[in-house]
Amino acid sequence: MARVLLTGGAGYIASHTAVVLLERGHEVILLDDFSNAERDVPARLERLTGHNLPVIEADIRDSEAVSAALAAQPVAAVIHFAALKAVGESEADPLRYYDMNIIGTIRLLEAMQAGGVARIVFSSSATVYGQPDSSPIPEHAPTRVQNIYGRTKLVMEDLISDLARTGKLRAAANLRYFNPVGAHPSAMIGETPRGVPNNLMPYLTQVATGRRPCLNVFGTDYATPDGTGVRDYIHVMDLAEAHALALEHILAHDVALTVNLGTGIGISVLEMVQAFERATGRAIPLNISPRRPGDVASYYANPAMAERIFGWKARLNIEDMCRDAWRWEAAKAGINDV
Ligand code: UFG
Repeated sequence: MARVLLTGGAGYIASHTAVVLLERGHEVILLDDFSNAERDVPARLERLTGHNLPVIEADIRDSEAVSAALAAQPVAAVIHFAALKAVGESEADPLRYYDMNIIGTIRLLEAMQAGGVARIVFSSSATVYGQPDSSPIPEHAPTRVQNIYGRTKLVMEDLISDLARTGKLRAAANLRYFNPVGAHPSAMIGETPRGVPNNLMPYLTQVATGRRPCLNVFGTDYATPDGTGVRDYIHVMDLAEAHALALEHILAHDVALTVNLGTGIGISVLEMVQAFERATGRAIPLNISPRRPGDVASYYANPAMAERIFGWKARLNIEDMCRDAWRWEAAKAGINDV
């Protein structure tokens, strides 16, 4: 059993990962600056898991604070979630993204090195593949960065891989997420985007609560079976389990790896809407809209490597994802007939 520090620990994917780590007997410390996370997440996690969760409020660029945290409670590994993640924002303000994501990762790695922490699991993204030649996408597919956000994720991966290659890190896992959705089935934690959601599922759930009038379907003329964009949606609890298994694998074997985390199944926007309507009994009004600039028609993972290396496979299906995303949004909106 290991003690691990989660940067961005109160965020969407980290909070779900914390639940799985605690269930598997690990000890978890959360580090977050709460710039894009709700203040009550640690308390919710404590209620949900019955575990005490130390929280350090700090920015990852603050090496002193991170070093002090690592000195106070030595950890076996860091799981690095903290990052800015909005594509549009990254194009509007590249330096802010380079600073937080790239400089932030360098500062974190320095603090880890100074504190003798040589193992890391990193929250990367399938966005590093850009426009793939074909799907399913294997890990050896070329990386084609299409925006500043994607660039920062690829550089962060490269920093970690270089340190592993040169022996400065003993173990590293770059985890390339496809499209994480859903929430813990308890509806006690979930995703809380600030402002108008960019992503499909949080927008869909806000239409279902009546907060937004209709879902804009961005493009119906793609070269996909029904003309709408196809993605590999993965339940956040499956993703959380993958973090725990990847962590346990790299701790046991001291290896460096880069793996896709997806289901391997492509789902279109319209298929998602239908699954949501089936899973929740709510009708979703649609507004057919032009393509969203920068969107790729279709991409989904070849997730075989994660299964081969550390025995992980997604278990939850699209209806589980819709049901749990809806439970969470409905709970926040005070809707009880779920
Ligand atoms: N979509 C809609 N309406 C919406 C929102 C999305 O039709 O209101 C469509 C998109 O056009 C796309 C699909 O739903 O076809 C999925 O869109 P998301 O925004 O949910 O997800 P993306 O695949 O665009 O985004 C993902 C990750 C980002 C990453 C990005 C890079 O969530 O973190 O890929 O392109 F940066």
